[in-house]
Amino acid sequence: MDKREFARRRKRLMDMVDHGGIAIQPTAPERVRNRDVYYPFRADSDFHYLTGFPEPEAVMVLVPDRPQGEFLLFCREKDPEAETWHGRRAGLEGACELYGADDAFPISDLDDILPGLLENKTRIYYTMGRYQDFDQRLVGWLNRVTSKGRAGVHAPDQFHSLAHHLHEMRLYKSKEEIKTMRRAAQISAAAHQHAMEICKPGLYEYQIEAELVHQFMRKGSRAPAYPSIVGGGANTCILHYHENNEALRDGDLLLIDAGCEYDHYASDITRTFPVNGRFTPEQKAVYEIVLQAQLAAIDKVRPGNHWNDPHMAALEVITRGLVDIGLLKGRWKTLMKDEAFRPYYMHRTGHWLGMDVHDVGDYKIGDEWRLLEPGMVTTVEPGLYLSPSIKGLPKRWWNIGVRIEDDVLVTANGNEVLSHGAPKTVAEIESHMQLASAA
Ligand code: GLY
Ligand code: MN
Ligand code: MN
Repeated sequence: MDKREFARRRKRLMDMVDHGGIAIQPTAPERVRNRDVYYPFRADSDFHYLTGFPEPEAVMVLVPDRPQGEFLLFCREKDPEAETWHGRRAGLEGACELYGADDAFPISDLDDILPGLLENKTRIYYTMGRYQDFDQRLVGWLNRVTSKGRAGVHAPDQFHSLAHHLHEMRLYKSKEEIKTMRRAAQISAAAHQHAMEICKPGLYEYQIEAELVHQFMRKGSRAPAYPSIVGGGANTCILHYHENNEALRDGDLLLIDAGCEYDHYASDITRTFPVNGRFTPEQKAVYEIVLQAQLAAIDKVRPGNHWNDPHMAALEVITRGLVDIGLLKGRWKTLMKDEAFRPYYMHRTGHWLGMDVHDVGDYKIGDEWRLLEPGMVTTVEPGLYLSPSIKGLPKRWWNIGVRIEDDVLVTANGNEVLSHGAPKTVAEIESHMQLASAA
């Protein structure tokens, strides 16, 4: 992402924080996986959004109108020996030259410097409750400033949620962000298509997962945006199935919910297809209901509609469909009101998508679902899960779990399906899989 993009974001935030305010945002802590092995580090999304700084142990401070510089970065100093063991560091100079900080300080000096920055400010913008250790340090710094009251020093006495301001910004994607998210979705869509091409009975779910990750990484993604769900047969009915360790069987469906993270932006795609390349009549009937529900929901993703409109459109198609195939009995309107679909469809139809897979941004303003506006990105992901645990479900419907998920950008006139490249209709999937197996 262009350095100017980060600068634009800081400027916008700085305009809100304004004179007399100070914004503080640490990056994420490193997390132990086991003993002395750490999980791969990923920056805090809010911190990255404002700085682009990729290293751990860093804190951003914005002080509008500070004469010596407004954008301060605390980070690790250069250390040739540590860098030989653990990798390069930008150091203080790099923080300024590469990341545009006006002033950079060693992270080890945070306790000495930060209280001074708080002196005589009136408002702190900070996200409480995300990193408890840091919360406590901030309280300690404030107490130090408060204790100087008799010397005529004022401590800030207004707390504002930094997350509230930032997340509203993050909800509306810029041109640069949309470009990145389009790329993320393209990479993931191609990986889903590849999975259809190589799938056959006898493969293990993790072998398909390996192919997905390979496709992500060979195109520049460094990790999936969330643990990939690769479930065949009965596992299609477990929403967040993650064991991915069973063999795929002839005649079963395979549900894959997987998306790459590309340059810190998530994609989130689900496709469901037959392991052997041909839907059974029951699988096809269920698939068609979910597909029609998804298309009806996508059609509702346009400016001026409410956040909940796509969900309601999907629920109607799903309820009518369950009546059509005989799994629900009665009038669809009554059934919808009574939420008769719940045993078969128990999640919502989408969520915001961005740097986090379940991205930030309010879904309601006051008591009202918010209106969709250009630049917002949502997933659209209805499903049906016909588990044998549903009372009275005839056996021929057992273990048919279908979810279809795309990433959809709200545009000025309607929407753009960012993940459109992955085959989706029954005809597309079957012809694609058969062509691949004949090759
Ligand atoms: N992959 C998580 C979700 O679809 O919400
Ligand atoms: Mn999703
Ligand atoms: Mn998903």
